[in-house]
Amino acid sequence: MRILFLGDIVGRPGRHAVAERLPRLRERWRLDCVVINGENAAGGFGITESICDEILQAGADAVTLGNHSFDQREALVFIARQPRLIRPANYPPGTPGRGATVIETARGARVLVVNVMGRIYLDPLDDPFAAADRELEACPLGAAADAVIVDMHAEATSEKQAMGHFLDGRASLVVGTHTHAPTADHRVLPHGTAYLSDAGMCGDYDSVLGMQKEEPVRRFLQKTPGSRLEAATGPGTLCGVAVETDDSTGLAKRVWAVRLGPHLEESWPREWD
Ligand SMILES: [Fe+2]
Ligand SMILES: [Fe+2]
Repeated sequence: MRILFLGDIVGRPGRHAVAERLPRLRERWRLDCVVINGENAAGGFGITESICDEILQAGADAVTLGNHSFDQREALVFIARQPRLIRPANYPPGTPGRGATVIETARGARVLVVNVMGRIYLDPLDDPFAAADRELEACPLGAAADAVIVDMHAEATSEKQAMGHFLDGRASLVVGTHTHAPTADHRVLPHGTAYLSDAGMCGDYDSVLGMQKEEPVRRFLQKTPGSRLEAATGPGTLCGVAVETDDSTGLAKRVWAVRLGPHLEESWPREWD
């Protein structure tokens, strides 16, 4: 199976890059499954129903979230009727939406997508390791699922690496999101799980985390109230990871970094072209 995961869409540049490039990539690489983190898709803060529809329309099979899940309050309502939009599974019981979903690919394969959020330098939610364990127990790779994708939305690389090893052999891919800067440590772990500490963002990299850079820079220089953070407006770059899984085990055979756009050195699975 061929899987593409893309990091946090930030504002219009990220949405445009996805809408412009993903339909062709899906065809060219014969992708079976595409998952994108959309927690910053609405101007950098959360996601709206129409933006979620737009991302799914462009070719995503599922959209994951993070600490910005409910910045747009309408997400509290529409997430209940959109099974392909998931928020971290370790939010407290009673939180709207779900933390995992199973999608069926065009070829009839079942892909479990799980979203969890780390607790270091983020809101302390329930234990993400226990939450991930529960979701994978309920839908095991090789039995109920033909592939398993885990989006570990976290700030600390240690917590993300620990999650990768904790789930090694039980997931096809464990990928970090949230920092908006891609890491270069993509690899297949010893028991067959593809891993990347952070997917980076889909957005304008001439920015601070996808936001217009002037105000963030000012906030580091002066500790006085300033203006609001606004998403940057330049051309967007797609960032994430591509994985090829073994059809019999669902584990990863190969993993590639994906970076397509004007600001970073480009990378993609050339073997798929
Ligand atoms: Fe983000
Ligand atoms: Fe985040």
